[in-house]
Amino acid sequence: MTTLMEEKPASATPTHAVSVAVAPAVTGGSAGGLSLANEETVLEVDQFNLWYGAKQALFDVNLKFPRGKVTALIGPSGCGKSTLIRSINRLNDLIDSVRYSGDMRLNGASILGRNVDVIELRKRTGMVFQKTNPFPMSIYENVIYPLRIDGENRKSVLDEIVERSLRRAALWDEVKDRLHESALQMSGGQQQRLCIARAISAEPEVLLMDEPCSALDPIATAKIEELIYQLKGLYSVIIVTHNMQQAARVSDYTAFFYLGRLIEYDTTEKIFTNPGNKQTEDYVTGRFG
Ligand SMILES: Nc1ncnc2c1ncn2[C@@H]1O[C@H](COP(=O)(O)OP(=O)(O)O)[C@@H](O)[C@H]1O
Ligand SMILES: [Mg+2]
Repeated sequence: MTTLMEEKPASATPTHAVSVAVAPAVTGGSAGGLSLANEETVLEVDQFNLWYGAKQALFDVNLKFPRGKVTALIGPSGCGKSTLIRSINRLNDLIDSVRYSGDMRLNGASILGRNVDVIELRKRTGMVFQKTNPFPMSIYENVIYPLRIDGENRKSVLDEIVERSLRRAALWDEVKDRLHESALQMSGGQQQRLCIARAISAEPEVLLMDEPCSALDPIATAKIEELIYQLKGLYSVIIVTHNMQQAARVSDYTAFFYLGRLIEYDTTEKIFTNPGNKQTEDYVTGRFG
């Protein structure tokens, strides 16, 4: 595993430019000659369809998410971004009316079959939601929650994981002297970084984020964006965002969805500067959405 955290280029700092026409140098590493054809796949979505009752929400989605990169899912509200990301850790199974077809393979193994252990799957996929959801316990216990339920109780192991996860979530310096205080006293931005620390503490194979900044103020948002940039290489991140500037700033690749279909999937640089599809272009230039 590489340690990109120490090698973060100056261009990683979120700039909050107003324009979506972001120069390649400030997008998520697109300057390095990225190409989907050269990526190793961490998660493959194969002919995936999903229905809520009679209403179809996703149509024939085919997509390979690259390992160790950040992939953004963008598109107008209701196009199926959350539905897709919630399918990856089988959260949609909790909705009675949901049916789906097709397959998804995480590191080569199908995760949609009836015989898949869903609890185990959720350990392999960290998830961060729009609404921060720290548990009513200490900062320390929040971070190691996934390991506790796995039966890990060795203090030296847990101490090390707490420090590593909080450092990676850019929160360690702010909380290292109050690890045993309640997580609920933290600010919204700190709570979201804590949720990220919890989502990565058990070293997930993919880190899923559904609009992780949309409830945060601009300063807290900038911190999380910088953090996502730093997690690149360490984790394979899939992030839903309705914020085009954010997609341009943090991601390597971008998938544009419209009305339940994947319309275009390419490097973030290409999607934002030279999209191949008229619908993509209209969306990224703000003509609809
Ligand atoms: N629990 C649900 N029951 C029925 N329909 C749903 C449910 N969740 C989402 N939908 C519908 O599925 C479509 C995709 O929704 P969603 O995945 O939430 O879109 P997005 O995250 O892109 O805004 C929308 O038409 C939405 O109304
Ligand atoms: Mg959504």
